Amino acid sequence: MSSLAVIGAQFGDEGKGKIVDFLAQKADVIVRFNGGSNAGHTVMVGEKTYKFHLIPSGSLYPEKTLLIGNGCVVDPEVAWEEILMVEREKGKINLTISERAHVVFSYHKVLDELQEKLKGKLKAGTTKRGIGPAYSDKSARFGLRMVDLINEDSFRRKCKKLFLMYDRLMQTFYNHKWEKHASIDEEVEKYVQLGRKLKPYVGDVSGKILNSIEKGENVLFEGAQGTLLDIDFGVYPFGTSSNTTVGGICVGAGVPPRAIDKVMGVTKAYLTRVGAGPVPTEIKGELARYIREKGAEYGATTGRPRRCGWLDAVALKYACRINGFDYLAVTKIDVLGGIEKVKICVAYEVNGSETKFFPADTEKLSDCKPVYEELDGWRNLSLGKWRKIIKEGYGSLPAEVKKFLERIEELCGVPVALVSVGPRRDETLVLEGTL
Ligand code: IMP
Repeated sequence: MSSLAVIGAQFGDEGKGKIVDFLAQKADVIVRFNGGSNAGHTVMVGEKTYKFHLIPSGSLYPEKTLLIGNGCVVDPEVAWEEILMVEREKGKINLTISERAHVVFSYHKVLDELQEKLKGKLKAGTTKRGIGPAYSDKSARFGLRMVDLINEDSFRRKCKKLFLMYDRLMQTFYNHKWEKHASIDEEVEKYVQLGRKLKPYVGDVSGKILNSIEKGENVLFEGAQGTLLDIDFGVYPFGTSSNTTVGGICVGAGVPPRAIDKVMGVTKAYLTRVGAGPVPTEIKGELARYIREKGAEYGATTGRPRRCGWLDAVALKYACRINGFDYLAVTKIDVLGGIEKVKICVAYEVNGSETKFFPADTEKLSDCKPVYEELDGWRNLSLGKWRKIIKEGYGSLPAEVKKFLERIEELCGVPVALVSVGPRRDETLVLEGTL
């Protein structure tokens, strides 16, 4: 067997969905281990575009085993919608959601909005999918899990009690009345129905992964969000509430460290960020607009315009350190085509001195000014030209692109294995001798 983990090396939206979908060709099992429907993975097959939020990205291949680990928080409505979508497209889905994964309820989403309002300047600009409140409940030990959702009799009781408690809590602290949305009994009933529908898809994910490994199957771990959004290692408090980094796999899928053979970090050739918080290499004005429009940089979950910036190698090296990447996948190299000079941030200047250290102090990160290295840009190539390059291999990439990629490798000390030049599966270049 071999297993590969695919991890976002930036602020999410690095193109992991496309990379996972590409790598899934050789995988038997695809596992999500963190986050929930805050993720937005866009996959293009032929002329059709699919957006997934919860179900693993390789779900459109027939015969794949799809797993959602205990480290995820599952919105049953989204899970059911996506199951139906996949089944409409390719027939019966082979999906198991961990019985230990926590459930995202409607009140988590309401609470997400109320908390963001309350936080003012400290708000992260969340996706409003109830992620933070659901993980808070998990840690506070009054959440409900998938195993509760599918156990109808006890679920009715537990759920009603929880909803009543939340009703009081929201009225007391937020002056918000539950009844504005749906009555508590209606809500309980809605989730009972969803529990019935999802029951056949709930099981022991950790056991399934270990069985697959024993059988010699190939396992792909699909990270959601990115390293800089990790609850421990990200730009706190502007990140998400799960461990998006490689360590999240063991606790979020229930596997020992030796179950992870190789780790691939995914980075764009530039950088984007959706939501609040400091981004040292952010660019504004015409160039940012050019990148945003050409790269279709709008959130897959919320549709918000993404903030765009130059590649930040200080942050990327930090992501390499936290995750121990064996390879990098560099995406959207085509988007930078047509820009005369491209930049990579190689250090930060803060209070008059230079540092290559990614700070834990978010206020300090706000004060960091990027120190750039400038490289020659490359021409705008047509899709046909990029496709020709993919057929011919690395050697026929424009010299400036090769220099750019080699500089990333030098700065990070990690080889580039994949280069993505478009959203489709076949718009991916595999570097010889890597995978
Ligand atoms: P939450 O995960 O919805 O609580 O959002 C917390 C922060 O993470 C916000 O800044 C979001 O914009 C960001 N975020 C969450 N999920 C994603 C994602 O899949 N891609 C990019 N950013 C995300």
